[in-house]
Amino acid sequence: MESGPDSLFVTLLLLLHSSHSESERFEVLGPTDTILAVAGDDIILPCYLKPNISAEDMTVDWLNLDFKDGRVYRYQNRKIIREDQIPSYIGRTSLFEEELWRGNTSLKLSRVQGTDEGHYKCFIKAKSWDHDLIIQVLVKAVGSKPVVSIEGHREGGMGLLCESEGWHPEPELVWLNSKGVHLFAGPPEIHRDFKGFYTVKQHVIVQETDTNRFTCRVQQSQINEKMETEVHLPSELFDTTPLRMAFIVLCCLGAIIGIGLSLAICWISYKKDELKAEKEVLRMENEDFKKKCK
Ligand SMILES: *[C@@H]1O[C@H](CO)[C@@H](O)[C@H](O)[C@H]1NC(C)=O
Ligand SMILES: *[C@@H]1O[C@H](CO)[C@@H](O)[C@H](O)[C@H]1NC(C)=O
Repeated sequence: MESGPDSLFVTLLLLLHSSHSESERFEVLGPTDTILAVAGDDIILPCYLKPNISAEDMTVDWLNLDFKDGRVYRYQNRKIIREDQIPSYIGRTSLFEEELWRGNTSLKLSRVQGTDEGHYKCFIKAKSWDHDLIIQVLVKAVGSKPVVSIEGHREGGMGLLCESEGWHPEPELVWLNSKGVHLFAGPPEIHRDFKGFYTVKQHVIVQETDTNRFTCRVQQSQINEKMETEVHLPSELFDTTPLRMAFIVLCCLGAIIGIGLSLAICWISYKKDELKAEKEVLRMENEDFKKKCK
């Protein structure tokens, strides 16, 4: 067998080709634990190639699998592709482009919000090879201190309303008396805003107790957080007597004003009649005088 320049060239080509496809084989690595993100923070979702080859000419796709359509981020042909980006991620995602050459395809996500929770897929595709990784992200947001408002007398007790906003995940609201016993309350009203944060509110009717102290507690056991507000209602609030007194006084006042008004009207019309009569007498006298003169 002759090993001429032609066969050497073919061997070289083969070698080059196999080393090329060898070099395209990689694994995508990242955290195995769930990432707990605090709402409002900027976070990094780690993802990188092993071996640490360049990803500059690969496609890097970040997806949130909890969304049916759209992508969180796409990098392809050395460009950021903005089509099909999930609206809630617009303007909040980026790659570390200066890190791509060493296989670092981590995603930066700014101003974390409730809708960011989910399972993220970091998918890297080269010409003849691809691999991916899934990362779970939980979003934690502690809501506002509950605000309690007094709604007035209701069904023989006092109506109270408690409200707290800005939670994630969805919290639970409970009403307690001073002994820590749960009070029977109305159905909770839960609202989720466009950023995925929860507002809860709940009405309760409380009866007078020896302390008149009541607590509204909003809690989220998954993130181990709670916020509460205690109110102390003065016992006069429960007493309906002053209210009744006020009612009676108002009624009496009304009656007095009414009587006064009718008396005034009577007097005025009486005066009017008197005036008319006087005028009549005067006219008659005048006529009499005229007749006498003739
Ligand atoms: C790639 O990884 C090797 C070790 O596996 C390390 O020595 C080298 O510095 C890394 N290169 C870059 C660019 O990070
Ligand atoms: C990737 O780049 C980011 C930003 O510089 C850095 O925080 C992170 O540690 C890098 N990851 C790896 C695996 O090098």
